[in-house]
Amino acid sequence: MCGIIGYIGQKDAKPIIMDGLKRMEYRGYDSAGLAILNGKSVKMHKKAGKLVNLQNEITDKDLAGSVGIGHIRWATHGAPTDENAHPHTDSAEEIYINHNGIIENYLTLKKALEEKGHEFYSETDTEVLAHLIEEYHKEVNLEKAVAAALKDVVGAYGIAVVSTKEPKKIVAARLGSPLVLGIVNDGEYIVASDVSAIMPHTREVVYLQDGEICTLTPEGYTITNLTLEEVDHTIEQVDWDVSKVQKQGYPHFMLKEIMEQGDVVHDAIRGRLRPEEGLAHLRGFIEHADRLKNIDRLIIVAMGTAMYAGMVGEYMLEEYAGIPVEVESATEFRYRKPVIDERTAVLAISQSGETADTIAAVREAKLKGALVLGVVNVVGSTIARDVDAGAYSHAGPEIGVASTKAFISQVTVLALITLFMGRQRGMSVVTGQRIAKELMELPEKIETILKQTDAIKEIAERYADSRDFFFIGRKYNYPIAMEGALKLKEISYIHAEGYGAGDMKHGPIALIDEDFPTVALVPQDSVYEKTLSSIQELKARSGKIIAVATEGDTAIDSIADDVIYIPKTLEMLTPILSVIPMQLFAYYVAAKLDRDIDQPRNLAKSVTVE
Ligand code: G6P
Repeated sequence: MCGIIGYIGQKDAKPIIMDGLKRMEYRGYDSAGLAILNGKSVKMHKKAGKLVNLQNEITDKDLAGSVGIGHIRWATHGAPTDENAHPHTDSAEEIYINHNGIIENYLTLKKALEEKGHEFYSETDTEVLAHLIEEYHKEVNLEKAVAAALKDVVGAYGIAVVSTKEPKKIVAARLGSPLVLGIVNDGEYIVASDVSAIMPHTREVVYLQDGEICTLTPEGYTITNLTLEEVDHTIEQVDWDVSKVQKQGYPHFMLKEIMEQGDVVHDAIRGRLRPEEGLAHLRGFIEHADRLKNIDRLIIVAMGTAMYAGMVGEYMLEEYAGIPVEVESATEFRYRKPVIDERTAVLAISQSGETADTIAAVREAKLKGALVLGVVNVVGSTIARDVDAGAYSHAGPEIGVASTKAFISQVTVLALITLFMGRQRGMSVVTGQRIAKELMELPEKIETILKQTDAIKEIAERYADSRDFFFIGRKYNYPIAMEGALKLKEISYIHAEGYGAGDMKHGPIALIDEDFPTVALVPQDSVYEKTLSSIQELKARSGKIIAVATEGDTAIDSIADDVIYIPKTLEMLTPILSVIPMQLFAYYVAAKLDRDIDQPRNLAKSVTVE
């Protein structure tokens, strides 16, 4: 959700900024801009549309200068136009600012500034901040002006600010939106929303905390609080593999990430299973083992795909650990009055660790005294830092906007948590051993599904002209039906709805005719016959069926129009296999329709605003 970057050093800022924006393009891609300072002169370019538009605009422009800021936008306030693109500047055109977040009280601030004579050119909340900083900057230096302005602001921000009055300085600050400082050399720094923009230049980073301001000059950097007192910080090493953020010959990141999923499961369980003892070894959870043993309720909070992973976790934890579990959209959780006490645990699931709604739910749960746990992919992200204990999902960088491998890693970690908590609560060694064994066999089974990619592509292409789809499943595969529908909507823009197979007869079946196909998840599990009956009801109304079934199931062949087979596994682990045909189906429908698969319209990968 918007990516910001700032560079200060000895090199030309332009290529470093443009490369960083390219790497953060998944965060937003409806407009982009940059401002480069060369002594007291500044050059700014902004362009609506994809980053390539900005690239074309600046190709033959002289943009020499070793201090600069860049931005890639996902619009909140104001349409994606050249005018609303960042950076924004003040009346005197001395201050240039990039912002990720929302200034909630911008209308009040704007009115007060207009009364003082400020004129505004864009519809954005960010421009107000530029003018506010201008007011303070008349009297004090840039960091003081930024700190003073931020005290007036209500909302969330990650910002990078430069001023022609102090051209060898970048001031960056965060509250609720991520910001990472990369230390390239003494006097050479990159500040960005995401480590992916920093990785090609250095592995040494500092994750800025909420309420911190970072001032960068060729003489060094300082990290302070809003009252400009220096604060302690830790320099961390990022160990992400740079090759993971390249397509490696695949046409899209999404396909590459689908294909990596065998390794992803392997990485998520590596070092965490004690198969002989039927145990899961989760360090963060072990530290809180006593409290965890005594909780009498678990609430899972997440958004989007992560929430569907949470729903699979709900079924696993209730069945194998006997803990009452509720899954809730973080957007709802934060504004109701959830009943929480110290015997409640709240588990947040998030790929990015930066989803604003999920962060707010985590903070609300902490305030209310719950034990707060996390399953997060991005190391050092806000949720990873805010929770009492967590388990990283170790999926590696996920770039495709539609989440795939992160989902599989989240469900795998939830299976480990089920094993951990189940064994605390009376699960037998034998059951524990069985789950551990089945988990270890998953990577190979995933490979057998991935080998059917061509067959799934052929099916997907035949259905690509349909205008609507249902996805149905039951029990462990109900969340997969929801996820299958979400994947298809996100990247193909085709209307799709996920339902529990048994729910169809309560209304949705009215829509079925020969032009309304259904993707049915019908593995041979404890609800196989029930799901089969629901499929028969759709067939009886001329509905076309694409089934995902267990290898060796011949009965489904005579009922469904098309069948995709997955290997047999433990019922609770079936979602880890059955979701893969959903991902590939959505991918190939979208490819056939020539959609922008890695950057679908209107979406952003990491939603860091409310
Ligand atoms: C957005 C993305 C989804 C993602 C959700 C949660 O809606 O488009 O793909 O599942 O956010 O993101 P998180 O990073 O918290 O898992």
